[in-house]
Parts: sequence; C-alpha cells; structure tokens
Amino acid sequence: MNIDYFIQELKKNLSKYIDEIKNIYQCDDNSALEYLNLCNNLLIEFKTLFPESKEIGIIRAPGRVNLIGEHTDYNALPVLPIAIDKNIIIIFSPVNDSTIRIYNHDPGFEYREFEISENTKPYETGDWGNYVKAGVLWNKEKGKKGFNALIYGDIPSAAGLSSSSALVVASALTFLQSNNINPDLLLLADELAKAEQYVGTMGGGMDQTISLLGKENKALQINFHPLSVKEVVIPNEICFVVINSLVKAPKTKNARLKYNRRPIECKIALDVVNKYIVNRFNSAFNYSFIGNLVKSFPSFNQNFINDILDNVLNKESYSTAQIVNILGIDEEQFKDKYLLLKDGSYFDEPHDGFKLRQRFQYVIEEGLRVSRAVDALENNNITLFGKLMVESYFGARDLYEISTPEIDFLVREALKCGAIGSRLTGAGFGGCVINLIYKKDAYSFLEKMKDLYFFKYIPETHPEISVNKNIVDNYIFICKPCRGAGLIFS
Ligand code: GLA
Repeated sequence: MNIDYFIQELKKNLSKYIDEIKNIYQCDDNSALEYLNLCNNLLIEFKTLFPESKEIGIIRAPGRVNLIGEHTDYNALPVLPIAIDKNIIIIFSPVNDSTIRIYNHDPGFEYREFEISENTKPYETGDWGNYVKAGVLWNKEKGKKGFNALIYGDIPSAAGLSSSSALVVASALTFLQSNNINPDLLLLADELAKAEQYVGTMGGGMDQTISLLGKENKALQINFHPLSVKEVVIPNEICFVVINSLVKAPKTKNARLKYNRRPIECKIALDVVNKYIVNRFNSAFNYSFIGNLVKSFPSFNQNFINDILDNVLNKESYSTAQIVNILGIDEEQFKDKYLLLKDGSYFDEPHDGFKLRQRFQYVIEEGLRVSRAVDALENNNITLFGKLMVESYFGARDLYEISTPEIDFLVREALKCGAIGSRLTGAGFGGCVINLIYKKDAYSFLEKMKDLYFFKYIPETHPEISVNKNIVDNYIFICKPCRGAGLIFS
C-alpha cells in the first residue's frame, strides 16, 4: 500500500482499522487505539528515513510464553506455548537490488546494511543484526530482492519471551513478502529453527513455530520431528500472569554457553542409553532424539525410566574420559561429535562434569508432563494443570539447574498468593515466571506480587536495579493468547 495514502487513512478513518487490531491482540478499544497511533508514528518515522520508498507493508511477529515443556523441543518432545501481545513490528518497502537496509526504532541499536549473498558473514556475536541475517540468509535461491525497513519491538529482551525469534520470524516474513513468496508456515517454522542456530544457540523449534502459528485464545501443543501442531483451548475461567524477574538471561554471550551445555548433555546421555538399549534388546537402532526413544516404546512409563536410570546412568557426573570409555570412541571423535560449536570452537568439559542422568530424567519427565497437561486443559482439570506446572519447575530447578534465586522466590510467593501453578518459562538462567490464576483472583494476585517482588524483594536484594513505579505493569501482566505473525492492514 502507498505510505502517504495509509497515513491519511489512519488520520481520517482510524475506527475502520480497530477491529483488525482487537482481533489480533485480543485487546479493548483503548489499547487498539494505542497500537494504531504507534503504527502511525512508525510510518512517519519510516518516511523520514526512506523518503524514496512509497510502497510499504507492515509485518508483525509476536513473542511467546511457554506454559509447560521447557527444553523439550530440541529433544523432539512436545511444548505448549502461547503467542503474546508483545511483538516485533517491521515497516518495510521492497527494493530492486539485493541490499537489506535496517533502522531500529530504538536508538540503542545501530543502523545495519548487508547483501543477500552467500558471501555475507555474520556480524560479531551478540549483534542484533544477526537475527535479521538469520531470517533472510537461510534462503539460498539467487537473485532475491532486498528491502528498506524500520524495526520496532516491545518484547523485553533477554527475558525468556523470545524477542530474538520474533525478530528472526518478522525478518523472514518481510524478506518473503518483498519477493512475493507465500510460505507454508510449518515448513518455514522448521527452516527458521535451523536458521536461528546462525547466532550460535543450539535451540529447538518452539519459538519460531509459535510466533508463526499462534492462535487467538488458544495454546499450541507443538510436536517435533516431524513438526506438527494441535490447538488447545484455554478454559475461560483462568488466565496466565507473566512476572519478569528483571534478571537478564541473554542467550548471546555467556548464557549461551550455559544453554548449549544442556543439548550437549542430552545428546551424550542419549547415546549412553542407546548403547544400553542396543545390548539389552539386541536392536541395531540408534535413536537420534530422546523423544524418538519415548515414542518408539508405547509402554514408555515411569518403570521404564526407572530401569534406565538405575541401570544405565550414574547419579554422579561424568568426565570426558568416562564417556569416551563407555561409548568406545576416542577423545577427538567425542569432541567432534558432541562438543563442536557453531563458531568452530569446542565446548569445554564443565568444572562439575557432564550431568547426564539429571538432564535425561528431567527431559523425559517433562515430555510426559506436557501430554498430561494438555489432557488436563482439555478436561478442564485446572488443579492438575497447576500441579504439573509446579512439578515442571522443580525439575527445572533441581535436575536441569536453570532456575535462579529470584525465580525461586517468585514461584514460592506466587503459590502463597493464589497461583494454582507457577514455573519459570523460557530458557531459564533468569527471565520470567508464568503463573496460572483464576480470572476472579487476578487483580489481588497482581497487587500482592507487585508489592512483594518489585517494591520489597528487588530493592532489598538488587539495589542496582531501579524499579520505576509507573512502568511496573510492563514487568507483571496478564498475557492473552494472540494471533501468530503476518502482514497487517494488507
Ligand atoms: C529457548 C530456545 C527454545 C527452547 C527454550 C527452552 O527459548 O530457543 O528452542 O529450547 O529455550 O524451552
């Protein structure tokens, strides 16, 4: 559409666009008006940055909150996230050459420009432009058009709400739209999950899939290898409250190594178990994901897990020497198969060893919890859903070791203040807690938790973090399941 025409339209016929916004974000008239004003301001900003660009489109891609199923995606076990009303918005205009030119509305992120070419190298680790590159450069076809773009985002970064994947998804859709390509969303989600590994994190496919396929009022059970989704209706009497611990969990830098340690440990644990299964069942089959193992044993249950835990994986951590011995390979083969990172360096043996049993046990139990949690929602068994959330948190804290003292405090207090369930959401090592609340209790829950955490705990334990009373609603909010990514006002 023509940018001048659309700016005029928003001035004259604002009300015409309110319904679309209300449907996407599941919000009221006032919030819809705020979004429209924001779009208007972004359009004006875009016009100043790219006065020559007349034909524009607007893409949005939401962040997500995962209700249950953490660190299961890269193990081919299911997850249960919702898309939220915080998102990345891109105003763009296709260009005739293959250059991508991007400004960020936030002046903290500098202008970036690159060519769509197989010779384009990543920016330095941690650079925001790498997420745009990941969203564009996975497409290997030649002769594709670039775009001019202004990017805006309101997903708090490093908070476990997938701001980075939303940027990858929004960039990919902008690229495809600029080249008039209508993607199959499931295939695209699969591609983008692989593409995001460009930034060096060995993540799974949850974030890209929910950002692309999220549904109003529904959670999605996402299954992997092969990727498929199932919509799960959220009972009307409950809601989910997100609380940001304000402890940043950036997936770039050091936290990326902490994150990558988990997929590495899972892969090693699986191969130790594979070895046992080959001997015990006389099978020649090697499972490539923990999830495939679970799926191929229809009677996979607690007894089976206990058998493996008791007979195969030690409680104590493993050293490289021990693993090499069990797997019957040499140290070089071990490093190349399990420890090689995207940037060509090797992951070092952790000072406390590889915790194979703990990681394996957590992942298997968490995968089974997701299936039970979906049944619970479908049968309106809210109490059971809450109980599973809490079990998931204990597993994440004690076996997967991805919690923090702040998250522990929030979960403990939330359960005292009326939450039916509470757990950390996202990769962990900081970030957010998600709480299951009856709608009727939401107001008092929000008030109590604001007071306890943002006005008492944080000032006492983290005086360096300043909590602005006026924007505390940005740190603790009810999140409604929203629509997945796409063009708006097309
Ligand atoms: C990050 C990754 C996801 C998933 C979660 C943990 O968000 O990007 O793929 O592994 O952590 O559940």
